[in-house]
Amino acid sequence: MTESDRIPGAPSGVLLRPGVADLAVYVPGASTGVPEGVPIVKLSSNEGAEGPLPAARAALEAEAGELYRYPDSQPLVRAIAERRGLPEEMVTVGPGADMLIQYIASAFLEPGREVVYAWPSFVSYALTAQKQSAHATTVPLRGDDVHDLDAMRAAITERTALVYVCNPNNPTGTYVSRDALRAFVDDLPEHVVCVVDEAYAEYVLEDDYPDVLEEYVKAGHPRVAVLHTFSKIHGLAGLRVGWMAAPAWLVDASVRVRGPFDVTSAGLAAAMASIAEEDALRERAEANARRRESLRARLAAAGVESTGVANFLTVRVPDAQAATAALMRRGVIVRPLNAFGSPTQIRITIGSDADMAIAAPIIAEVLGAGA
Ligand SMILES: Cc1ncc(COP(=O)(O)O)c(C=O)c1O
Repeated sequence: MTESDRIPGAPSGVLLRPGVADLAVYVPGASTGVPEGVPIVKLSSNEGAEGPLPAARAALEAEAGELYRYPDSQPLVRAIAERRGLPEEMVTVGPGADMLIQYIASAFLEPGREVVYAWPSFVSYALTAQKQSAHATTVPLRGDDVHDLDAMRAAITERTALVYVCNPNNPTGTYVSRDALRAFVDDLPEHVVCVVDEAYAEYVLEDDYPDVLEEYVKAGHPRVAVLHTFSKIHGLAGLRVGWMAAPAWLVDASVRVRGPFDVTSAGLAAAMASIAEEDALRERAEANARRRESLRARLAAAGVESTGVANFLTVRVPDAQAATAALMRRGVIVRPLNAFGSPTQIRITIGSDADMAIAAPIIAEVLGAGA
Protein backbone atom coordinates (compact mmCIF):
# COMPACT_ATOMS: atom_id res chain seq x y z
CA MET A 1 0.00 0.00 0.00
CA THR A 2 1.37 3.44 -0.88
CA GLU A 3 0.81 6.53 1.22
CA SER A 4 -1.77 7.86 -1.26
CA ASP A 5 -3.93 4.76 -0.64
CA ARG A 6 -4.09 5.71 3.03
CA ILE A 7 -5.48 9.24 2.54
CA PRO A 8 -9.12 9.06 1.41
CA GLY A 9 -9.55 10.44 -2.10
CA ALA A 10 -5.83 10.83 -2.90
CA PRO A 11 -5.19 9.73 -6.52
CA SER A 12 -3.10 6.57 -6.50
CA GLY A 13 0.38 7.25 -7.83
CA VAL A 14 0.92 10.72 -6.26
CA LEU A 15 4.13 10.75 -4.24
CA LEU A 16 2.95 11.60 -0.73
CA ARG A 17 5.73 11.35 1.85
CA PRO A 18 5.59 8.04 3.78
CA GLY A 19 4.07 8.59 7.22
CA VAL A 20 1.85 11.57 6.31
CA ALA A 21 -1.25 9.46 6.88
CA ASP A 22 -0.03 8.65 10.40
CA LEU A 23 0.23 12.29 11.45
CA ALA A 24 -2.32 13.28 14.09
CA VAL A 25 -4.67 16.16 13.28
CA TYR A 26 -5.11 18.91 15.88
CA VAL A 27 -8.61 18.77 17.33
CA PRO A 28 -9.82 22.22 18.48
CA GLY A 29 -12.14 22.77 21.44
CA ALA A 30 -15.80 22.17 20.56
CA SER A 31 -18.02 25.12 19.67
CA THR A 32 -21.30 23.34 18.90
CA GLY A 33 -23.40 20.51 20.30
CA VAL A 34 -25.69 22.45 22.62
CA PRO A 35 -29.43 21.63 22.35
CA GLU A 36 -31.45 24.20 20.36
CA GLY A 37 -32.83 27.11 22.39
CA VAL A 38 -30.30 26.75 25.26
CA PRO A 39 -27.97 29.79 25.58
CA ILE A 40 -24.41 28.79 24.66
CA VAL A 41 -21.36 29.69 26.72
CA LYS A 42 -18.17 28.49 25.01
CA LEU A 43 -15.47 27.80 27.59
CA SER A 44 -13.51 25.16 25.66
CA SER A 45 -10.59 26.90 23.93
CA ASN A 46 -8.92 29.19 26.49
CA GLU A 47 -9.63 32.21 24.34
CA GLY A 48 -9.33 35.68 25.88
CA ALA A 49 -12.72 36.50 27.38
CA GLU A 50 -13.08 40.12 26.35
CA GLY A 51 -12.06 40.04 22.68
CA PRO A 52 -9.78 42.60 21.02
CA LEU A 53 -9.10 45.87 22.87
CA PRO A 54 -10.65 49.00 21.29
CA ALA A 55 -7.19 50.18 20.21
CA ALA A 56 -6.62 46.89 18.36
CA ARG A 57 -9.99 47.14 16.61
CA ALA A 58 -9.20 50.71 15.52
CA ALA A 59 -5.76 49.68 14.23
CA LEU A 60 -7.33 46.83 12.31
CA GLU A 61 -9.80 49.16 10.62
CA ALA A 62 -7.05 51.64 9.82
CA GLU A 63 -5.01 48.84 8.22
CA ALA A 64 -7.81 47.82 5.86
CA GLY A 65 -6.74 50.22 3.08
CA GLU A 66 -3.14 48.93 3.24
CA LEU A 67 -3.97 45.26 2.74
CA TYR A 68 -2.72 45.27 -0.85
CA ARG A 69 0.85 45.54 0.50
CA TYR A 70 2.96 42.65 1.79
CA PRO A 71 3.37 42.79 5.56
CA ASP A 72 6.45 44.05 7.39
CA SER A 73 6.84 42.36 10.77
CA GLN A 74 9.88 44.40 11.83
CA PRO A 75 7.95 47.29 13.45
CA LEU A 76 6.24 44.80 15.79
CA VAL A 77 9.57 43.09 16.52
CA ARG A 78 11.06 46.50 17.29
CA ALA A 79 8.14 47.51 19.49
CA ILE A 80 8.33 44.31 21.55
CA ALA A 81 12.12 44.56 21.80
CA GLU A 82 11.98 48.19 22.96
CA ARG A 83 9.20 47.52 25.45
CA ARG A 84 11.12 44.63 27.01
CA GLY A 85 14.61 46.15 26.72
CA LEU A 86 16.05 43.59 24.32
CA PRO A 87 17.97 44.05 21.07
CA GLU A 88 15.80 43.39 17.99
CA GLU A 89 17.94 40.38 17.08
CA MET A 90 16.58 38.60 20.16
CA VAL A 91 12.91 38.86 19.19
CA THR A 92 10.91 37.31 16.38
CA VAL A 93 7.21 37.07 15.59
CA GLY A 94 5.28 34.25 13.96
CA PRO A 95 1.74 33.22 12.99
CA GLY A 96 0.82 32.17 16.52
CA ALA A 97 3.05 30.63 19.16
CA ASP A 98 1.94 27.39 17.58
CA MET A 99 3.81 28.06 14.36
CA LEU A 100 6.86 29.23 16.32
CA ILE A 101 6.82 25.78 17.96
CA GLN A 102 6.77 24.31 14.45
CA TYR A 103 9.69 26.54 13.41
CA ILE A 104 11.70 25.43 16.43
CA ALA A 105 10.90 21.79 15.64
CA SER A 106 11.94 22.31 12.00
CA ALA A 107 15.21 23.85 13.10
CA PHE A 108 16.15 21.15 15.63
CA LEU A 109 14.30 17.89 15.13
CA GLU A 110 14.90 15.03 12.72
CA PRO A 111 14.81 11.23 12.95
CA GLY A 112 17.07 10.12 15.81
CA ARG A 113 16.67 13.38 17.73
CA GLU A 114 14.59 13.61 20.90
CA VAL A 115 12.38 16.19 22.53
CA VAL A 116 11.34 16.05 26.19
CA TYR A 117 8.15 17.55 27.59
CA ALA A 118 5.61 16.97 30.34
CA TRP A 119 2.35 15.12 29.76
CA PRO A 120 -0.43 16.14 29.74
CA SER A 121 0.77 19.38 28.22
CA PHE A 122 0.26 21.40 25.05
CA VAL A 123 -0.34 19.03 22.13
CA SER A 124 1.70 21.04 19.61
CA TYR A 125 4.94 19.77 21.17
CA ALA A 126 3.78 16.26 20.25
CA LEU A 127 2.38 17.08 16.80
CA THR A 128 5.46 19.02 15.67
CA ALA A 129 7.84 16.30 16.91
CA GLN A 130 5.82 13.75 14.97
CA LYS A 131 6.01 15.85 11.79
CA GLN A 132 9.79 15.87 12.07
CA SER A 133 9.85 12.09 12.72
CA ALA A 134 11.66 12.84 15.99
CA HIS A 135 11.21 10.88 19.20
CA ALA A 136 9.02 12.48 21.85
CA THR A 137 9.82 11.56 25.45
CA THR A 138 6.83 12.47 27.58
CA VAL A 139 7.24 12.78 31.35
CA PRO A 140 4.06 12.43 33.44
CA LEU A 141 3.12 15.41 35.61
CA ARG A 142 3.58 14.87 39.36
CA GLY A 143 0.57 13.90 41.48
CA ASP A 144 -0.14 17.61 42.06
CA ASP A 145 -0.25 18.13 38.26
CA VAL A 146 2.96 20.21 38.27
CA HIS A 147 5.86 19.47 35.87
CA ASP A 148 8.16 16.79 37.30
CA LEU A 149 11.37 18.62 36.50
CA ASP A 150 13.60 15.99 38.16
CA ALA A 151 12.10 13.27 35.98
CA MET A 152 12.37 15.54 32.92
CA ARG A 153 16.07 16.09 33.64
CA ALA A 154 16.52 12.34 34.01
CA ALA A 155 14.80 11.76 30.64
CA ILE A 156 17.32 13.89 28.74
CA THR A 157 19.87 11.94 26.70
CA GLU A 158 22.71 12.95 24.39
CA ARG A 159 20.14 12.89 21.54
CA THR A 160 17.80 15.39 23.24
CA ALA A 161 17.72 18.64 21.29
CA LEU A 162 14.79 20.39 22.98
CA VAL A 163 12.95 20.46 26.27
CA TYR A 164 9.65 22.31 26.67
CA VAL A 165 8.36 23.77 29.90
CA CYS A 166 4.78 24.92 29.51
CA ASN A 167 4.34 27.56 32.19
CA PRO A 168 1.59 27.72 33.25
CA ASN A 169 0.82 24.32 31.86
CA ASN A 170 -2.02 23.84 29.43
CA PRO A 171 -4.22 21.87 30.30
CA THR A 172 -3.69 21.77 34.11
CA GLY A 173 -3.07 25.48 34.77
CA THR A 174 -0.28 24.62 37.23
CA TYR A 175 3.06 26.43 37.16
CA VAL A 176 6.74 25.90 37.82
CA SER A 177 8.14 28.34 40.39
CA ARG A 178 11.12 30.66 39.86
CA ASP A 179 13.42 28.54 42.07
CA ALA A 180 12.35 25.23 40.54
CA LEU A 181 12.95 26.51 37.00
CA ARG A 182 16.33 27.95 37.97
CA ALA A 183 17.51 24.64 39.42
CA PHE A 184 16.29 22.80 36.29
CA VAL A 185 17.89 25.16 33.77
CA ASP A 186 21.19 25.32 35.71
CA ASP A 187 21.42 21.54 35.49
CA LEU A 188 20.70 21.20 31.74
CA PRO A 189 23.45 19.70 29.59
CA GLU A 190 25.03 22.08 27.09
CA HIS A 191 23.47 20.54 23.99
CA VAL A 192 19.88 21.07 25.16
CA VAL A 193 17.74 24.11 24.32
CA CYS A 194 14.97 24.91 26.81
CA VAL A 195 11.82 26.49 25.39
CA VAL A 196 9.50 27.96 28.00
CA ASP A 197 5.97 28.43 26.68
CA GLU A 198 4.42 31.42 28.44
CA ALA A 199 1.24 31.68 26.38
CA TYR A 200 -0.74 32.49 29.54
CA ALA A 201 1.93 34.47 31.43
CA GLU A 202 0.02 37.73 31.56
CA TYR A 203 -2.76 36.11 33.57
CA VAL A 204 -0.45 34.83 36.31
CA LEU A 205 -0.27 37.13 39.32
CA GLU A 206 1.70 34.77 41.64
CA ASP A 207 4.90 36.28 43.13
CA ASP A 208 7.08 33.22 42.55
CA TYR A 209 6.16 32.89 38.86
CA PRO A 210 9.36 33.34 36.83
CA ASP A 211 9.74 35.96 34.07
CA VAL A 212 11.86 33.97 31.63
CA LEU A 213 12.53 36.89 29.30
CA GLU A 214 14.04 38.94 32.16
CA GLU A 215 15.70 36.18 34.12
CA TYR A 216 17.20 34.12 31.32
CA VAL A 217 16.96 35.66 27.84
CA LYS A 218 17.87 39.21 28.81
CA ALA A 219 20.41 37.90 31.30
CA GLY A 220 22.21 36.25 28.38
CA HIS A 221 21.44 32.55 28.86
CA PRO A 222 22.59 31.03 25.55
CA ARG A 223 20.01 28.21 25.35
CA VAL A 224 16.72 29.44 26.81
CA ALA A 225 13.85 30.81 24.69
CA VAL A 226 10.41 32.02 25.71
CA LEU A 227 7.19 31.98 23.69
CA HIS A 228 4.33 34.46 23.99
CA THR A 229 1.08 34.96 22.14
CA PHE A 230 -1.48 37.60 21.28
CA SER A 231 -4.17 34.90 21.28
CA LYS A 232 -4.97 34.93 25.00
CA ILE A 233 -5.13 38.10 27.09
CA HIS A 234 -4.97 40.30 23.97
CA GLY A 235 -8.02 38.51 22.56
CA LEU A 236 -6.60 38.19 19.04
CA ALA A 237 -6.58 34.40 18.53
CA GLY A 238 -8.24 34.72 15.12
CA LEU A 239 -5.42 36.87 13.79
CA ARG A 240 -2.65 34.38 14.68
CA VAL A 241 0.23 36.36 16.14
CA GLY A 242 2.85 35.05 18.56
CA TRP A 243 6.37 36.06 19.45
CA MET A 244 9.57 34.60 20.81
CA ALA A 245 12.40 36.13 22.80
CA ALA A 246 15.57 34.08 22.51
CA PRO A 247 19.34 34.29 22.06
CA ALA A 248 20.10 35.91 18.68
CA TRP A 249 21.45 32.65 17.21
CA LEU A 250 18.17 30.90 17.98
CA VAL A 251 16.10 33.69 16.44
CA ASP A 252 18.37 33.44 13.39
CA ALA A 253 17.85 29.66 13.11
CA SER A 254 14.07 29.94 13.46
CA VAL A 255 13.87 32.74 10.89
CA ARG A 256 15.64 30.50 8.37
CA VAL A 257 12.92 27.84 8.46
CA ARG A 258 9.92 30.19 8.40
CA GLY A 259 7.87 31.16 5.37
CA PRO A 260 8.13 34.66 3.92
CA PHE A 261 5.47 37.16 5.07
CA ASP A 262 4.11 34.62 7.54
CA VAL A 263 2.31 37.09 9.83
CA THR A 264 -0.49 39.10 8.24
CA SER A 265 -0.48 42.90 8.22
CA ALA A 266 -3.88 42.85 9.95
CA GLY A 267 -2.42 40.74 12.77
CA LEU A 268 0.69 42.91 13.01
CA ALA A 269 -1.34 46.14 13.20
CA ALA A 270 -3.71 44.84 15.88
CA ALA A 271 -0.89 43.33 17.95
CA MET A 272 1.13 46.53 17.74
CA ALA A 273 -1.79 48.57 19.09
CA SER A 274 -2.64 46.00 21.74
CA ILE A 275 0.79 45.74 23.41
CA ALA A 276 0.74 49.46 24.13
CA GLU A 277 -2.39 49.04 26.28
CA GLU A 278 -0.61 48.02 29.47
CA ASP A 279 -3.20 49.34 31.92
CA ALA A 280 -6.08 47.66 30.11
CA LEU A 281 -4.17 44.37 29.97
CA ARG A 282 -3.42 44.54 33.68
CA GLU A 283 -7.12 45.18 34.37
CA ARG A 284 -7.98 42.15 32.27
CA ALA A 285 -5.59 39.99 34.30
CA GLU A 286 -7.10 41.21 37.56
CA ALA A 287 -10.68 40.74 36.35
CA ASN A 288 -9.80 37.23 35.13
CA ALA A 289 -8.31 36.36 38.52
CA ARG A 290 -11.46 37.59 40.29
CA ARG A 291 -13.73 35.52 38.04
CA ARG A 292 -11.43 32.48 38.27
CA GLU A 293 -11.27 32.60 42.08
CA SER A 294 -15.03 33.07 42.28
CA LEU A 295 -15.54 29.92 40.17
CA ARG A 296 -12.93 28.07 42.23
CA ALA A 297 -14.74 29.01 45.45
CA ARG A 298 -18.11 27.99 44.03
CA LEU A 299 -16.68 24.63 42.96
CA ALA A 300 -15.02 24.11 46.35
CA ALA A 301 -18.34 24.83 48.08
CA ALA A 302 -19.83 22.08 45.91
CA GLY A 303 -17.00 19.74 46.98
CA VAL A 304 -15.02 19.99 43.73
CA GLU A 305 -11.28 20.82 43.75
CA SER A 306 -9.68 22.69 40.86
CA THR A 307 -6.22 23.79 39.74
CA GLY A 308 -5.07 26.74 37.66
CA VAL A 309 -3.47 30.20 37.78
CA ALA A 310 -4.29 31.31 34.21
CA ASN A 311 -7.58 31.89 32.36
CA PHE A 312 -8.82 28.36 32.95
CA LEU A 313 -9.48 25.91 35.77
CA THR A 314 -8.96 22.17 35.55
CA VAL A 315 -11.13 19.77 37.48
CA ARG A 316 -10.97 16.03 38.14
CA VAL A 317 -14.21 14.22 37.35
CA PRO A 318 -15.20 10.54 37.25
CA ASP A 319 -15.54 10.60 33.44
CA ALA A 320 -14.49 13.63 31.36
CA GLN A 321 -16.68 12.80 28.35
CA ALA A 322 -19.76 12.29 30.55
CA ALA A 323 -19.15 15.53 32.48
CA THR A 324 -18.63 17.44 29.21
CA ALA A 325 -21.85 16.01 27.79
CA ALA A 326 -23.79 16.88 30.97
CA LEU A 327 -22.54 20.49 30.81
CA MET A 328 -23.19 20.64 27.05
CA ARG A 329 -26.86 19.77 27.66
CA ARG A 330 -27.02 22.87 29.89
CA GLY A 331 -25.33 25.08 27.24
CA VAL A 332 -21.81 25.17 28.73
CA ILE A 333 -19.07 23.92 26.40
CA VAL A 334 -15.88 22.79 28.18
CA ARG A 335 -12.89 20.69 27.13
CA PRO A 336 -12.56 17.03 28.14
CA LEU A 337 -8.88 16.20 28.46
CA ASN A 338 -9.07 12.79 26.79
CA ALA A 339 -7.00 14.05 23.86
CA PHE A 340 -4.36 15.18 26.37
CA GLY A 341 -4.25 11.65 27.75
CA SER A 342 -6.36 12.43 30.81
CA PRO A 343 -9.89 10.94 30.62
CA THR A 344 -10.75 12.08 34.17
CA GLN A 345 -10.16 15.82 33.84
CA ILE A 346 -11.99 18.67 32.19
CA ARG A 347 -10.70 22.17 31.49
CA ILE A 348 -12.95 25.19 31.92
CA THR A 349 -11.95 28.51 30.36
CA ILE A 350 -12.74 31.61 32.41
CA GLY A 351 -15.16 33.60 30.26
CA SER A 352 -16.37 37.19 30.54
CA ASP A 353 -18.49 38.44 33.46
CA ALA A 354 -21.61 37.75 31.37
CA ASP A 355 -20.39 34.23 30.48
CA MET A 356 -19.58 33.36 34.07
CA ALA A 357 -22.85 34.76 35.46
CA ILE A 358 -24.60 32.12 33.35
CA ALA A 359 -22.05 29.31 33.44
CA ALA A 360 -20.60 29.30 36.99
CA PRO A 361 -23.80 28.20 38.79
CA ILE A 362 -24.42 25.51 36.14
CA ILE A 363 -20.84 24.20 36.37
CA ALA A 364 -20.95 24.04 40.19
CA GLU A 365 -24.34 22.35 40.15
CA VAL A 366 -23.50 19.76 37.48
CA LEU A 367 -20.02 18.89 38.77
CA GLY A 368 -21.11 19.10 42.42
CA ALA A 369 -23.74 16.47 41.62
CA GLY A 370 -20.88 14.14 40.67
CA ALA A 371 -21.00 14.34 36.85
C1 LIG B 1 0.49 26.55 26.06
C2 LIG B 1 0.12 27.08 24.73
N1 LIG B 1 1.08 27.44 23.89
C3 LIG B 1 0.81 27.93 22.69
C4 LIG B 1 -0.48 28.08 22.26
C5 LIG B 1 -0.73 28.54 20.86
O1 LIG B 1 -0.98 29.87 20.82
P1 LIG B 1 -1.22 30.59 19.43
O2 LIG B 1 -2.67 30.87 19.32
O3 LIG B 1 -0.38 31.83 19.54
O4 LIG B 1 -0.73 29.70 18.35
C6 LIG B 1 -1.53 27.72 23.08
C7 LIG B 1 -2.92 27.85 22.62
O5 LIG B 1 -3.85 27.42 23.21
C8 LIG B 1 -1.23 27.20 24.35
O6 LIG B 1 -2.19 26.80 25.18
